[in-house]
Amino acid sequence: MNKKLLTLLLVAGIAVIFVATGLYAGTDVPETITMNFNKYKKRRKAPPKYKFIEFSHKKHNVEYKVNCGECHHDKDHKPLELKAGDHVQKCVECHTKLTKNKKKKKDIKVLENAMHTNCVGCHKEVNKKAGDPKGRKGPAPTSCAKCHKKA
Ligand code: HEC
Ligand code: HEC
Ligand code: HEC
Ligand code: HEC
Repeated sequence: MNKKLLTLLLVAGIAVIFVATGLYAGTDVPETITMNFNKYKKRRKAPPKYKFIEFSHKKHNVEYKVNCGECHHDKDHKPLELKAGDHVQKCVECHTKLTKNKKKKKDIKVLENAMHTNCVGCHKEVNKKAGDPKGRKGPAPTSCAKCHKKA
């Protein structure tokens, strides 16, 4: 084999590896996600006092049977039917406000509100179905300290 061909093959091989890992990064649906939107200016529920929440992303889909579209939606708030490999936007790309507004406490543009409405909202429904009329107690955590654990 001549040198030129060998180099060419090498380059092609490296290119394949790059494409493959690149694709893998895109297709990967994270197993768990450390909920660390470190763009927050004033952290209250994060280290050093609190641990970051380890969100069992894949388990929610596979074991708890929650569809992608119950959490991921498009710019018109239409649920997204996702499959592995699809590009997924981060919540903060649309829920862009990182501080609460005292006059509009429930503003869904605030990331914290989007998260709590999504996570805690569903958890309350789950607990209601499990028998607690208020939805506070049951299999899915709804109290601050169950998600924001002290470090
Ligand atoms: C219970 C809610 C929930 C379900 C169900 C869910 N996700 Fe997610 N997913 C999230 C949250 C929250 C994030 C973190 C988003 C962020 O960082 O802003 C995320 C992140 C992701 C990311 C990484 C995005 C990035 O760039 O960091 C991908 C990819 C993804 N989800 C795909 C899926 C797919 C595919 C499904 C269905 C098979 C799914 N998700 C089901 C809530 C969910
Ligand atoms: C492409 C933009 C976009 C992304 C990305 C996005 N959202 Fe939204 N979201 C919206 C829009 C638009 C609305 C509707 C706002 C309104 O009603 O004023 C909305 C509404 C919501 C609501 C309110 C639902 C209700 O019942 O009132 C929740 C909760 C929410 N988003 C959570 C999330 C979470 C969690 C993520 C990330 C996993 C996310 N969003 C990603 C655009 C987005
Ligand atoms: C559409 C419903 C739904 C949404 C949305 C949802 N969850 Fe859950 N979650 C569940 C169910 C169901 C369980 C499991 C209850 C059980 O054990 O039977 C659960 C359990 C949990 C648990 C305890 C067990 C574990 O797997 O760690 C944590 C922590 C948790 N969820 C965090 C979150 C966070 C953080 C979010 C938002 C990013 C979220 N959940 C969004 C339905 C949901
Ligand atoms: C089901 C889990 C869950 C419960 C219950 C919950 N949170 Fe959160 N909270 C989250 C997630 C997820 C975020 C986004 C965190 C991140 O990205 O770092 C968040 C963000 C926050 C933030 C903004 C981030 C920061 O560090 O300042 C505050 C403040 C907060 N929560 C306070 C509370 C309080 C107070 C309660 C009880 C009333 C509560 N949370 C209950 C999941 C939860």
